[in-house]
Amino acid sequence: MDKKNFKFETVAVHAGQHPDPVTGALNTPIYQTSTFAFKNVEEGMNRFLGREKGYIYTRLGNPTTTALEEKMAALEGGEDAAVAASGMGIISAVMFAILKTGDHLISTDSIYGCTHAFFEERLGALGIETTFVDTAYPENIKKAIKKNTKAIFVETPANPTLKLVDLEELGKIGKKHGIITVVDNTFCSPYLQRPLEWGIDVVIHSATKYVGGHGDLIAGIAVGPGDLMEKVKMESIKDIGACISPFNSWLMLRGLKTLPIRMERHCENAIKIAKFLESHPIVDRVYYPFLKSHPQYEIAKKQMKLGGAMISFELKGGFDAGVMLMNSVELMILAVSLGDTETLIQHPASMTHSPIPEEERVKAGITNSMVRISVGLEHPDDLIEDLKNSFEKINKKFKLY
Ligand SMILES: Cc1ncc(COP(=O)(O)O)c(C=O)c1O
Repeated sequence: MDKKNFKFETVAVHAGQHPDPVTGALNTPIYQTSTFAFKNVEEGMNRFLGREKGYIYTRLGNPTTTALEEKMAALEGGEDAAVAASGMGIISAVMFAILKTGDHLISTDSIYGCTHAFFEERLGALGIETTFVDTAYPENIKKAIKKNTKAIFVETPANPTLKLVDLEELGKIGKKHGIITVVDNTFCSPYLQRPLEWGIDVVIHSATKYVGGHGDLIAGIAVGPGDLMEKVKMESIKDIGACISPFNSWLMLRGLKTLPIRMERHCENAIKIAKFLESHPIVDRVYYPFLKSHPQYEIAKKQMKLGGAMISFELKGGFDAGVMLMNSVELMILAVSLGDTETLIQHPASMTHSPIPEEERVKAGITNSMVRISVGLEHPDDLIEDLKNSFEKINKKFKLY
């Protein structure tokens, strides 16, 4: 059979998995070792000089992590992958591999708070300037390009506004101007969206989310051109030290096998909840890419397989109603992060996006009354019931409808 024609579900199960040549173990073992023994000094020397493939030390590579790199590269349709100890670890490793002092970066204005802080504070301190724009409009990206623009980094859907970036347009802008395009695909996973197919250069994941899928690890993965990924691994991660533990790589190998069925159920639940929210009088506005009311619904349909499982909405009653909602839910869990089996609810203005200055945050559409839900794998009726009961409690107090 031609492996190139395997469907996503088959790739998710089989890619990167090679039965152990000694024992026949079907699943990749956890190579829980910090170092690797050389047969003799020549072998050690050749590996250090890159003349021969093989492992040296787990910060520079580990067989369990190699299997994960192979699986993720296959799922995103890229040449190679690099894995780091967290989403922020891989974002910094990739950006250090691309940028140097004097370069300019363009990014999304409502980007994840720590990514924003990394660009503004950490890269800023090194003399790398970032311009944050509303990347939902390609014109804004084009206008922000300078002579020294080296990279464009976007999230789509963006966190938590659920604004989209037209990936085809972004790919064209990058190619036309010779700028490296990087897309944070955390909200979608490769099952819902494959940015490389639209001409994007590098895909990033906080693998803590849907890639792991069970809320039990922190990790980051990038997929992109082989030479860049080599630089990310053998320069950035080697020297910054944000390497993943073999056990966490193994957890992701396991989690990825069920990615397609998990994503199907996440999205099926999410659209039901998004429609419920849209029909409820206490809700002012719902942001969900596969609702017709989403201003970029057509783009969502073009580049996403399903609408994802992240929903943001504005409650009537502002900040106080939002706070009461989070203290009222009984099944949903008040927590940041996303992509877990459990449904998580949070308040971006006081939590994930609090590092962004208030004026800038509100301008980017992250209002004080915005609530974000990461829809899990529970039964949707139970989740809707939880929201319904909480809305009634809020209405009793604030008389909003
Ligand atoms: C879209 C997005 N990118 C990156 C990150 C950072 O990932 P990590 O927490 O794994 O470092 C997050 C974390 O929430 C995120 O939501």
